[in-house]
Amino acid sequence: MKQISFLSLLFTFSTFALAQPINDLVKTPPMGWNSWNVFHENINEKQIKEIADIMVSSGMKDAGYIYLNLDDNWMAKKRDANGNLTHDPDRFPSGMKALGDYIHSKGLKFGIYGDRGLRTCHHYNNSNQFPGSESGSYMREEQDAKTFASWGVDYLKYDNCEPAPGSNQQQDYERMRDALKKSGRDIVFSICAWGFQSWMPKTGNLWRTTGDIGNAWKNAPGDWFRGVADIIEEQEHLYIHAGPGQWNDPDMLQVGNGKLTDNEARSQMTMWSIMAAPLLTGNDIRNMSATTKDIYMNADMIAVNQDSAGIAGHRIKNDNGKQIWMRPLGGEGSGKLAVVLYNSADYEQTIDLYFEDVGVSGEVMVRDVWQKKDLGMISNGLSSIVAPHHVTFLIITAKLDPAEPFTGTAISLPGKIETENFDKGSAGLAYSDNSSENEGKAYRESGVDIVTLDSTDESKGYAIGYTSAGEWMNYTVNIEKAGKYFIFANVASGLENSGFRLFLDDKAISDTLVIPQGTDWNTYSEIYAETTELSPGEHMLKVQITGSYANIDWIKFCSTENCEDITSLHQPRVTHNHLTGTHLRVKNNKTFIEKNGKRFNLLGHRIHKY
Ligand code: GLA
Repeated sequence: MKQISFLSLLFTFSTFALAQPINDLVKTPPMGWNSWNVFHENINEKQIKEIADIMVSSGMKDAGYIYLNLDDNWMAKKRDANGNLTHDPDRFPSGMKALGDYIHSKGLKFGIYGDRGLRTCHHYNNSNQFPGSESGSYMREEQDAKTFASWGVDYLKYDNCEPAPGSNQQQDYERMRDALKKSGRDIVFSICAWGFQSWMPKTGNLWRTTGDIGNAWKNAPGDWFRGVADIIEEQEHLYIHAGPGQWNDPDMLQVGNGKLTDNEARSQMTMWSIMAAPLLTGNDIRNMSATTKDIYMNADMIAVNQDSAGIAGHRIKNDNGKQIWMRPLGGEGSGKLAVVLYNSADYEQTIDLYFEDVGVSGEVMVRDVWQKKDLGMISNGLSSIVAPHHVTFLIITAKLDPAEPFTGTAISLPGKIETENFDKGSAGLAYSDNSSENEGKAYRESGVDIVTLDSTDESKGYAIGYTSAGEWMNYTVNIEKAGKYFIFANVASGLENSGFRLFLDDKAISDTLVIPQGTDWNTYSEIYAETTELSPGEHMLKVQITGSYANIDWIKFCSTENCEDITSLHQPRVTHNHLTGTHLRVKNNKTFIEKNGKRFNLLGHRIHKY
């Protein structure tokens, strides 16, 4: 790798709404093993116990791989006399409870597989071998969830085969989500419906984004499955849906299954880590080569995958297969990023990385994940010769700006936050800006970039601008009244959709606020969201940017949906959110949403008259 010394270019990316996670499980992507890729339907008790043993003795468990997930065909051909799902008596003679106990005794977690329709995929695809199978959970969700809980199940992968006539996919998945909640046990809910849909983040902890992965780098004409490279392309644009407790699932790992080259294997792990994807190994770990083991257990790779900030990476450049991906790391004030130079072409290419392209400047510390070595302090950028289907996987640590106290006083809520007045509290950094350049060129207190609302008239005020995904600002707020709040924000994004999230004392309090792409940077519009229940007193409110170039003028917290307690909101206004096709309107001091001529209140309930 050599250093290069010129700088260039802008990057763009877009965001969509992030819903609240359904539970507190899997705050980082789940890691473990699944039986399907290597054994398919041929699973049995002896072999699964051996897998449990080797997960511990090989060091995989200590490296973080803790879920041992049975896939399809653990169940008997028929339910028992009480209509309960039950184990296949020949292959799992001791039953599922005993197997779960064994798995737990090893310090591992127990995952199982089910289906939202009438039969599981294997039973449906091989109906002649499974006459009368009732392996699907359709309309038996509560019963089956209770059965799973009684066996000590910690994770359910829920498939999408043979839907019942007239059934509704979303409702089928929601019924199982609710049944798991009622089951009395904490169970991770993994939706396997072969493609993302907007209801999924409110329904599952993870959701498959594509059809099944095959044991190949790319699919060939006529193949029904996806290769690793196909899935990377298919999933990329979904990155904004990922967050702590809710993950895009590009399917299981094929490393160690004999088809991917070592380079391709490292690429799968790298891309799954940068995308914040579940790491579910799909190989026979009883017979792992030293290389496979080394690839699965690379500590830096796992640390990137498991990063607590939970912001998924995305592609910022693709020039004929010379791809650059970036993932902000480390939460607050870390100044850390993971960067991947990925060559998706079938021939060797040199990929240039300009640090400016990933939002950092000055001298930065660079570590190479697969070479397992620090490359030292580097300025401006570097270039790397990357083999076909391979990656250069880097962790970059930038220096942060020093902190100076800025506001010092708490902002009362209900009330209005002028976002440019972020704290730079004396207790440490209270903002994080990935670039030390003052790109906004307006006033700036050696921190986050500030832009003028109107470039010809500074008296009109300022906003946060020139943001990168992962940057954040803190505000000390004093919540006067307990309860849920309505949030309005005045925002602009002239280039792409963007967005931000709100955290109170580091806990998410609303869905992502999506900033729709507007016509230009000077046209601001209002967006809205609702908070969870907030408790009174002084708190730290963090505004975390999840997309590029989010201009935020102000954020209002109102305790009524009409902001009666915040005077300046009373004038009529109309805001169009082109992503959702909704209009936010105010009439006679009442705020409502209009979609396709129908009116809804801010909670989404239909209203007929105001
Ligand atoms: C579907 C799923 C796979 C696997 C099989 C089992 O194809 O997408 O991941 O679970 O079913 O039959």
